[in-house]
Formats: sequence, C-alpha cells, structure tokens
Amino acid sequence: MATSTAQGAAAAATLSKGLDGILAGETAICNIQNDELIYRGYEVHDLVDHACFEDVAHVLLVGHKPSAAESAAFKAELVRERAVPAEVIEVVQRAARASHPMDCLRTGVSLLSHHDPDTADNSPAANLRKAKRLLAKIPTLIAAGTNARHGRGLPQPDASLGHAANLLWMLTGKKHGERAVKVFDVSLILYAEHEFNASTFTARIISSTLSDLHSAVCGGIGALKGPLHGGANEAAMAMLQEVGTFDNIRSFMDKAFATKRKIMGFGHRVYKRGDTRAGVLRKYGMEYAGNEKPEFNEWWRIADAVAKIMLDEKKIHPNVDFPCGVTYWSLGLDVPDFTPIFVASRITGWSAHIMEQMADNRLIRPLSNYVGPAKRPW
Ligand code: SDX
Repeated sequence: MATSTAQGAAAAATLSKGLDGILAGETAICNIQNDELIYRGYEVHDLVDHACFEDVAHVLLVGHKPSAAESAAFKAELVRERAVPAEVIEVVQRAARASHPMDCLRTGVSLLSHHDPDTADNSPAANLRKAKRLLAKIPTLIAAGTNARHGRGLPQPDASLGHAANLLWMLTGKKHGERAVKVFDVSLILYAEHEFNASTFTARIISSTLSDLHSAVCGGIGALKGPLHGGANEAAMAMLQEVGTFDNIRSFMDKAFATKRKIMGFGHRVYKRGDTRAGVLRKYGMEYAGNEKPEFNEWWRIADAVAKIMLDEKKIHPNVDFPCGVTYWSLGLDVPDFTPIFVASRITGWSAHIMEQMADNRLIRPLSNYVGPAKRPW
C-alpha cells in the first residue's frame, strides 16, 4: 500500500529526541564553534573586554558594529523608550504580589503589544522599532515587579545612566559603582545570544507562522523560564544557598548523586568541554567580589568546590548560569529576578532571530513518528 508522503518521509528521517544534533536551519547571527561564542563574527572575550551591551545589541539587532554617531543615537533612543504606560505598570505591580517574576514579565510584554503602534506590522523596519522598544522597556517592567514585591514604588529611569547601570538602579534603588556596572554589563553581553537554544527556537517557530514579534517574545519568555534553560541561574543560586557552607558540600553532592538530582548550572547540549561564557563571568564576578564584596569570596570558594566535584566525578562542566548566580547575588539582586534579567539581555538575540526568520521564512513543521494504537473501528 502506498504510504503518504509524510509517512514515507518520516520513515526515511532519523528520530532525534530533543532535536539533539539536528541542523534545523541557518543563521548569520551567532556561531558556537570549537567552544568559542561568536556574534556576527565578534568573539565574546573581545566583546566583554572592549564593547558595551548597547553596542553588542546594535550588532545583533541592526547587524553591524555601530559608528560613534550610531552608538550615541542607539543609546539615546533606548533611553527615550524606557517609559512604560501606567496601566501596564499597575497590572505588573499587582501580579508581582503572588506570581513569579517571569510570569509578571510575560504578562507585561503581552500588555505592551496593546500599546505598540507597530504590533501588527512584520516589516523589518517595524520589527526593529518593536525590538528596541522592548529592549528599553523590559528593565522597567522587571523593576516594577521587583519594587512592588518589596513594597516600594518604581524608581524612575535615570537618563544619565547607560543600560546596565539603569537596570541596576531601577532594580535596587541604588546607584552602583563602575566595577558593579561593568560586571553586570559583561553578564548582559554574555547572555545576549546563543543561536538555536530552546527559547530562541521557540521564537523562530512562532515567527515562522508569520505571527508577530510580541507573540514570539512571549513564547521565548515561557521557554526560558524552565529550570533546564534560563531558569537555571535562579535555581543554581538557590542550590548554593541550600548547600550553605563549605563543610556541607560533600554530603550535599553525595545525596544529589544518589538521588540523581540535576545540579543546576551544569551541563550543556552544545558545549561538551565547557561553556566559554562560564569562565568569563566567573573571572569578572570573582574580581568584583574580591575588590568590593569580600563577604562573597566564601560563596565563590563553595561554587568552585562544587564545580570541581562535578568535573572530577561526573565530567560535567558549569554553564553560564552557574557563575551568574553568585555574581548577581553579590550585586544585591533578588534571586527570583535572575531569569528576568536574562530576558532583558536575550531580547536582543530573540529579536534578531525573529527578524532573520521572517526575512527568509519557511514554516517550521517537523515530522513525528507514530507509536500509538493501530487503526481500529469506532
Ligand atoms: C542554558 O541551549 C542553550 O544554548 C541554552 C543556554 C543559552 O544561552 O540559551 O546556554 C542557556 O539554558 C544553559 C543550561 C542551563 N540548564 C541547567 O543548568 C540545568 C541543568 N543541566 C541539565 O539539565 C542538562 O545539562 C542540560 C539540559 C543543560 C543539557 O542536557 P542534555 O544535553 O539533554 O544532556 P542530558 O540531560 O542528556 O545529560 C547527559 C547525561 C545524563 O546522564 P544519564 O541520564 O545519561 O545517566 O549527563 C547528566 C544527565 O543526567 N547530566 C547531569 C547534568 N547535566 C547532564 N547530571 C546532573 N546534573 C546536571 N546538571
């Protein structure tokens, strides 16, 4: 009996759970090769040492390294766009009392789609405008929830501060010094983009139906929230707090191994000899603690000891989410805000991929292998 095209194709295709090792498309945005991470040709070690997050965002969204004039104009536009309509702030503040910050952020982005004049316009120019608006407004949305949780009003965005410094200001109500801003800016550069990770691929799938950028970003937030993905930075810090002291490490790890517990912030689908970002963020985070927050040196000692056990006994390396935990905690940030901050950075990668998908689109629709009951009469 002739099989349908799909059945024939399914039979010929090879099944890979989790699309592990499957080439699902092409991108000019990011390349992970030989454990190096490259954004449109620029390697992240070069970027964190010599660029700021806004200029990296320009590379990802606009597509090239900005001239001095383009950089100034891009930064000024982001500063202008930081304000969020009062009725959106109010909903997020109310939701923050009982919902997880990632759920509040997803709601906030969805509400912003009702206020954006370009929501229904998928043209490259409109999508770029929407991407920059969300890049500028997501910090305000996160801060609205954070301050509401603490019973505080929302600090107004400070036009004199760059993106990283303003986000720190709005989250904590405090102006941070140069070292704190630098290590935070480094984390935003490292989190910005990572080719076809789960949340980015989610955004591409939604974009491939020609839906819209806000819908694709809401899907991305939903995917990133999971502890196997972006939610790991929050879970990694919670795990270290559970370990608590250096003397507790061995017994904690023995119990975790015995119960097959996933150690948050470790392992990666793509990097098998270690996530290049983890080493960069650990270096900057430890330097910051050493210079400004010596009380966190002990947490770095605990983190290093956990990482040594994972490498020696499981051959598993830390990923970027592991050093992020101690770094963000030492900056005085709330653990539940760690993954929303990941969104504040990854909105750049998501938006770049949404625009790339729509520019050369083909509906994303893989095959499945049927393993259910054989055909039977009703
Ligand atoms: C991010 O894809 C990206 O690029 C994502 C990201 C980005 O920038 O977008 O890099 C951001 O999401 C980083 C990953 C954050 N997640 C975590 O830290 C959660 C803990 N990590 C694991 O759940 C796991 O390592 C994954 C999900 C990250 C990767 O898993 P894979 O590739 O599916 O590997 P696997 O689960 O098949 O693991 C292989 C083996 C398994 O052992 P067996 O079941 O075969 O005996 O290694 C073990 C796993 O149990 N293992 C772990 C482990 N990671 C893998 N065991 C304990 N703790 C871990 N963290």
